[in-house]
Order: sequence, then structure tokens, then C-alpha cells
Amino acid sequence: MNVTVIGTGYVGLVTGACFSEFGVQVICVDRLAEKIAALKRAEMPIYEPGLEDLVRRNASAGRLEFTTDAREAIRSALVIFIAVGTPPANDGSTDLRHVEAVAREIGQNMDGYKVVVTKSTVPVGTSHKVRLWIEEELKASDKKVNFSVVSNPEFLREGAAIGDFMRPDRVVMGSEDGDDQAMAIMKDLYRPLFLNETPFVLTNLVTSELSKYAANAFLATKISFINEISLLCDKVGGDVQGIARAMGLDNRIGKKFLHAGPGYGGSCFPKDTLSAAHFAREQGTRFEIVEAAINVNQRQRSYALDKIVEACDGDVQGKSVAVLGLSFKPETDDVRESPALDIIAGLQERGARIQAFDPQAMSQASRLLPDVDLCKDAYEACTGADVLVIITEWNQFRMLDFNRIKSLLNEPRLVDLRNIYEKAAMVSQGFVYWSIGRA
Ligand SMILES: NC(=O)c1ccc[n+]([C@@H]2O[C@H](COP(=O)([O-])OP(=O)(O)OC[C@H]3O[C@@H](n4cnc5c(N)ncnc54)[C@H](O)[C@@H]3O)[C@@H](O)[C@H]2O)c1
Repeated sequence: MNVTVIGTGYVGLVTGACFSEFGVQVICVDRLAEKIAALKRAEMPIYEPGLEDLVRRNASAGRLEFTTDAREAIRSALVIFIAVGTPPANDGSTDLRHVEAVAREIGQNMDGYKVVVTKSTVPVGTSHKVRLWIEEELKASDKKVNFSVVSNPEFLREGAAIGDFMRPDRVVMGSEDGDDQAMAIMKDLYRPLFLNETPFVLTNLVTSELSKYAANAFLATKISFINEISLLCDKVGGDVQGIARAMGLDNRIGKKFLHAGPGYGGSCFPKDTLSAAHFAREQGTRFEIVEAAINVNQRQRSYALDKIVEACDGDVQGKSVAVLGLSFKPETDDVRESPALDIIAGLQERGARIQAFDPQAMSQASRLLPDVDLCKDAYEACTGADVLVIITEWNQFRMLDFNRIKSLLNEPRLVDLRNIYEKAAMVSQGFVYWSIGRA
């Protein structure tokens, strides 16, 4: 089977590479010529563990190709995935301009039956709009071509994307009423996962589209929930990690996404929660839980910033802050909506200087943080700083040499926004220590 993936970002590249690993013939398309040129040289545009090997192996086997030529890629494929970005518009709704551009391009170039799949996260009704956009283009060129539209949202996590794609908790696919042909083709494409007994949720377009927002809204709410508990813990002297453990051991709750910290970030939760809330309002109702989760998340970022200011005796003006971790979570170089960006901006507004280090996100961050001193490692970041702040819990920050750090910092102060150290151990090493919800 021939598959084309349009949009070669975190999702498109992983999707294309993984399908080619299943033995499918894949073409990945992107409009960015430099990105495609780099991929042809097997240079990855993103940091994602295991991706480079997968791409190299399948590209050399001739199963995975990269191009900017959407026309040929559309014509040669039976299944076309739309995996372009769906950023938030100013009012919180989803900007569908990239999806529309691709749908129209498909309509302009389609010359035979295709299954067009929305893999991007899109509001309810978008797959139907994809049909209308394609039909408009077909009509404009007086072509009569039959096609199907399928919704197949992606649930992978950055940093664990390949494992998530190859061994997902579930695959969700929605088709138009009675379109058995499209479902049969999609099942055939995903056959390796069917054989693995991966659960499949086969449904209609609306249910499939909404399931992605429901899942992300729920996970974001879980994070905001534990962050609210962390505030209470700080007030009354509880330990949020103990509470998360006590809650998480209950199988009905589960232990994941119960880590207090500086709030969720990344390219999905912030925009998907906003979009879900906006969509509910458009429908004349309210998604009140998710609205609360969004507000709590914003407050948590300010709360994290306040902790750092408190650690600097209430004033960061003229102080140097060592920041460890810029990506929104470990094992990715993605800094989109990272809490680190907001926190750094808040510190700079208050007159602080920032010395930062991240194991993978330095080049992504450098574009967004022109006034930050980007350091070669954690120890350089600490040199001459007045306080050390851990924002992202990369593994290499879990075993820092605190004797060395103490000798480099002006003052032995640590603000651990991910609760990766024990207060008693840090105090015994001579540090003044702040964390989240472990007063
Ligand atoms: N990143 C994640 O962890 C994740 C997880 C699940 C779902 N999603 C969803 O998947 C979608 C893609 O996200 P992403 O993080 O991969 O985005 P991304 O920004 O990394 O990649 C999008 C790519 O699409 C390309 N593009 C845009 N318009 C194009 C066009 N007209 N023709 C060809 N290429 C075009 C861009 O150049 C870019 O390379 C979004 O809807 C996102 O919400 C993302």
C-alpha cells in the first residue's frame, strides 16, 4: 500500500517512519524545503529518541521518501494523512488554515479514489469540512473522483513517540456513515497493530474527533487537579507526592499525570484545552472543568515564579538565576508553551539575568530567548548565580554534583519545581530548598 503523509513535523514524521517500518511505502511531504533536504540527508529536524535510526533504516530500504512535491505524492497514494499544525487562534479557537490548504491541494491533485485521513488534532466537524474543501476543488476543475474521509487522531507523546505509535493503548478511527471501504483500507494499513491485539475504537467522524479533545482535556485536568492540591499542601504542611501516591494507587484513579509542578505545557494540552472550551461555547454550552483546568494552569505558572522570587528574598532585580530545563518535558527539544518560557519572561521582567541549560532544547530555545545566557552544561549555568531553579526534570538533573554546585553558586539556594530532590537531603548538604507542595 502507498501512503502519503502531508506535514512532516513531530506527528507526521513519526507516523510516516512507523508506517514504513510496518513495510508500507511512505512519502512524507512538507512545504519547508530545508526540512526535506535535511531529512534526505537523514538529519532529524527534531529530537525524538529512536527516530533517526528508524528513518535511516527505512529510507535506505527505499520504503520512506521525503519531498516538497505534494502533487506527485498525492497521486501515488491510496491513503493520505493530513498531519499539519493546528495552532490556536487569538480567541482560543483552532486555526485550520493549514488543514484547509492541504485539503484543497489534495482536491486539486486527486486523480483516483483516496482515503483522506485527518491525523492532526481538529475540532469536531473538521473532517466534514475537509470533504467540502476537496469537493469544491474537484468541482472547480470539473473532476469526478470518489474519495473517503477518515478521522484518526494521534495520541503519541513526544519523547516516547515511537513506542506510543508502535504499541499504542488504542487506535481511534472514525469514518463517514456506512463507509466500509475506507475502514477496510485503514484496518489493512494498521494490520500489524490488529495482530498485536491493540484495542481499536471504530466509530463515526464526530466521536473520533471529540475523543482526542476529551482525552487531552482529561489529562490536563488531572495535572491541574494535583497542582491545586499542591497549593493546599504548601498552606497546611502536606506532602503532595504522598497524596499523589495515595490517590494513584487506587486503580480507578491511576498514578499517571499526578505530578505537581509548574503547570502543563507543550504543543498540545494548552491549545487543545483552549480549543475544547471554545468549541463548547460555540455550541452554546460550557466545558467548565476544562476552563478551570486552564485557569489553574496559568495560576500555577505564576505560583512557580513567586517561589523563585521568594527564594531571592522577595526581589530578583539584578540577580542571576540558573535555569535547568527549557523543553516542556524531558526527552524532547520542543519548547512550545513550555512553562520555562513564561517563568523566564517573568523573571526578566522583574530584572533578573538568566543563565540556562537544556540537554536538547538549546537551539529551539535560542530563537525564543534572545536575552538568555545559554550555557554548555548545568555547572556553567550555576556559575555565579544567586539561585538554581530546576524547571524540566531531565534525568541528568536528578544526580547533580551538589558539592560542585554549592561552590559555583553565590548562595546555596535550590528551587526544585519538579520535586525531584528530597528536602532533608538538600538541607543536609547546606542548601536552602523550595519545592512544590512539600512545605
Ligand atoms: N506534537 C505532538 O505531541 C502531538 C501529539 C498528538 C497530536 N498532535 C497534533 O498533530 C498535529 C501536528 O502537530 P506537530 O507537533 O507534528 O506539528 P509541527 O508543527 O511539528 O509540524 C507540522 C508540519 O506541517 C508542515 N506544514 C504546514 N502546512 C503545510 C502544507 N500546506 N503542506 C505541507 N506541509 C505543511 C509544517 O511545515 C510542519 O513541518 C497538530 O494538530 C497537533 O495538535 C501533536
